[in-house]
Parts: sequence; C-alpha cells; structure tokens
Amino acid sequence: MQTLAGMAVEVLTTADGREKTALGRKHAAAWFAARAAGQPLPIGEASPPLRPSRPAKPDLLPPREVPRRRPGTPAGRIALLHAVGHIELNAVDLHWDIIARFTDHPMPLGFYDDWVKAADEEAKHFNLICDCLESMGSHYGALPAHAGMWRAAEDTVDDLLGRLAVVPMVLEARGLDVTPGMIDIFRKAGEAGPIAALETIYAEEVGHVAYGSKWFNWLCGRDGLDPKEVFHDLVRKYFHATLKPPFNEEKRAEAGLPPDFYWPLTEREEAEG
Ligand SMILES: [Fe+2]
Ligand SMILES: [Fe+2]
Repeated sequence: MQTLAGMAVEVLTTADGREKTALGRKHAAAWFAARAAGQPLPIGEASPPLRPSRPAKPDLLPPREVPRRRPGTPAGRIALLHAVGHIELNAVDLHWDIIARFTDHPMPLGFYDDWVKAADEEAKHFNLICDCLESMGSHYGALPAHAGMWRAAEDTVDDLLGRLAVVPMVLEARGLDVTPGMIDIFRKAGEAGPIAALETIYAEEVGHVAYGSKWFNWLCGRDGLDPKEVFHDLVRKYFHATLKPPFNEEKRAEAGLPPDFYWPLTEREEAEG
C-alpha cells in the first residue's frame, strides 16, 4: 500500500516541473479521498533526497549573478514571473519535503492534511505562472534562476521547529509582504492573467503561513516552550539575514504571526559577552 511519505519522495524525485506538480496533485487527491473515506493512508517512512530533482533548465546562478530587469518593460515582467515560478516550484518541494523528512516525530494527521494541501496549492501556483509565461511567449526554464532556494531546507534538515520557523514563518511570510507590490506592477501594465494568478497565490499563501504558526505553536506548547523565544533563537540560528520591513502586518496577523515575533529580528542580536 502506498504511504504518504513514499508519495512525497516520488514527487521530490521527479525532475520536470509540470510532471512533478501533476504527480503531486494526483497524490494530494488520493490523500484527501482516503481521508474523506475515513481510511487515511499510512504516513510510513521514506528517505527523501537531500536535494529534490529539478529540470536541466533553468540554469541556477548565485543570487548576485541573476540579471535584474526593470519591471516597467515586458521583458522585466517576464523575468519577475519567472522568478515567482521558481519560488513556487521550490515551495512544492519544500512542502513535500516537510511531509517526508520528519516522520520520526509523531504528529497529528492534521499536520499532514495541512502540508498536503499547501503542496497541492503550490503545484497550482506553479502551473498558473507557467501558463502566464507561455502566453507571454516565454516559459519556465527560459531564464536563469536563483540557486540558493534550497538552503533553508538543508540548514534545517534535522530540525522540525527550525524548518517551520524559517520556511513558512519567515520565507512564506515574506511573500505576503511583497506580493501586493507585484500585483501593482501587472495592474499598471494592464495584464489580467498575471494579476489573477498572483491574487490566487496571495490569498492561499496566508494559509501556508498560518499552518506554519499553528504547528510551531503546537510543538512549543506540547514541550512547554515559549514560542516567541524559540522562534527568535531558531531564526537567528538558521536564517542568515535580518528580516526586512515593511511588513504586511494585516496578513501576518491573519496568519497568526504577531508583531513581537518578527520585529525584533529586524535587528542584529547584540554581540555576546
Ligand atoms: Fe505559492
Ligand atoms: Fe506557499
């Protein structure tokens, strides 16, 4: 019988973006069908790869070498969408990775429901962005992309609380801060397809950040830890930069992220001793 961890590894080891996301959506549907029937699939155990399989293109470059283009031009808007597509494909793998990576921690089934749903939504986001790129005469893989995206996963490969702190509660929360500005760029250009895609992404990403805060708080509560202090410690340990305002305080609040979680991380910790 198929296990959820086994299905996650199948997605992680599929390289092509459209194939990876189609397989992920099929597995998500199977998971939710079994849940609805009252016969949840076993979680199982699997060995996720340290890095997921990815297509030969795009070329991955260090962030400083990824060319910047002005969003006022069609080529600039294609580059912006291409970068978003790369983030979405990475997010698909991040969500399946958290499912497969930490099966030695006994978690309620709701933990898996949330990340399967998030992974399924990321697959939809990737395909929406690919459709936009293709209708603009480009495609995912046509431009170089950021090489450092998997670093957060590697840094937190054996730390579930660290993974939750850095991925949904820092990186995906950052998406809530920057997406309205991206939507404005496409609104100014009068491009309806990307506006619709980005609005879907913006609405659904609130849920992913909320899943992160929910399970972070749940684990801290179970172990009698102060979530705010643990969050500060873990972000300082695993995230190699300060957080950058302005923050989308309203959407962060909706996702269960209080200001005293993120504001103190805009400053470097004072030197010890
Ligand atoms: Fe997404
Ligand atoms: Fe997400």
